[in-house]
Amino acid sequence: MKRFVDLADFTRGEVQDLVALAQRLEHHPEPRSLAGKVLGLLFMNPSLRTLASFQSGMARLGGSSFVITPGQGTWQLEARDGAVMTGAAAEHIREGLPVLASYCDALGIRAFAAGEDLAADLADERFNAMAALVDRPLINMESAINHPCQALADWKTLDELPGPARRKFVLAWVSHPKSLPLAVPAATVHMAALRGMDVVVLRPEGFALPTTVMERARQAAAASGGSVAETANRAAALEGAQVVYAKEWGCTSHYGDEAADRELRRPLKNWCLRNDWFARAADDCRVMHCLPVRRNSAIADEVLDGPRSLVLRQAFNRLPAQMAVLHRLLRP
Ligand code: CP
Repeated sequence: MKRFVDLADFTRGEVQDLVALAQRLEHHPEPRSLAGKVLGLLFMNPSLRTLASFQSGMARLGGSSFVITPGQGTWQLEARDGAVMTGAAAEHIREGLPVLASYCDALGIRAFAAGEDLAADLADERFNAMAALVDRPLINMESAINHPCQALADWKTLDELPGPARRKFVLAWVSHPKSLPLAVPAATVHMAALRGMDVVVLRPEGFALPTTVMERARQAAAASGGSVAETANRAAALEGAQVVYAKEWGCTSHYGDEAADRELRRPLKNWCLRNDWFARAADDCRVMHCLPVRRNSAIADEVLDGPRSLVLRQAFNRLPAQMAVLHRLLRP
């Protein structure tokens, strides 16, 4: 494995092998397997889980890591081609990225969506421009339209549930004070489809996932025996649901238009996941969210603190899942 940038680069069987390796590393530690190896972590955007779990995972495998957060103790990085660099950024990614890569054996990059141009974000232009400058194993730590590390951890979390693998999986839009990127919903709908689940995307009008995201998920579902549907009808979506994956994202009908997004979400404050959403769901329906989550805005305390919640297990699973990725990338 040379790069881990998109779960769609792997077959269902290859993902299952990675999850099996994550299980093994969780229960049978290999504290020397990456001795002498160095992981570089470049965060263009904030993090709690991704930063801490990669550093912890690398240390638990015997390696070490460094973290670069441009503008916080290191130079700000310019990414625009042809920029006249008279502003805050002192260094261009064309020098910064190859230099960082030369100091490590693998590099992780987090570069969120610019959130202005949907086509550019769907093409992951910002992340890909940086990735093209890296000549060694590369990890996508969340880009404009992807979060494969989260998807791999979520796959493991779903594997840990009792019962059959084919379940009704509802990716439910929930309320947030402002627009958030499409990376997690896009990665999640694909992950659940690749598993062969019956996926329903529940979202209000104006928040439909882009056609390319849905089409890719439908192709994955077709190959795995699952299905993908989309609706704004909450009652129909939640009927018989066995997993509800709550997530906030920005409006797609007026992508990049903050004022229009604000107007669209103003009447949607009741899209906060509460216990009464589960009236017609399966008795053992579980709740997922990638975190961070805004309590009582996106998900109510009664759900997050209740027996349905898997959010802490999901966050924990980032650690063994990423250890498996590092193991595959860096073990000869
Ligand atoms: N879920 C996730 O990626 O968390 P962080 O943004 O804290 O890394």
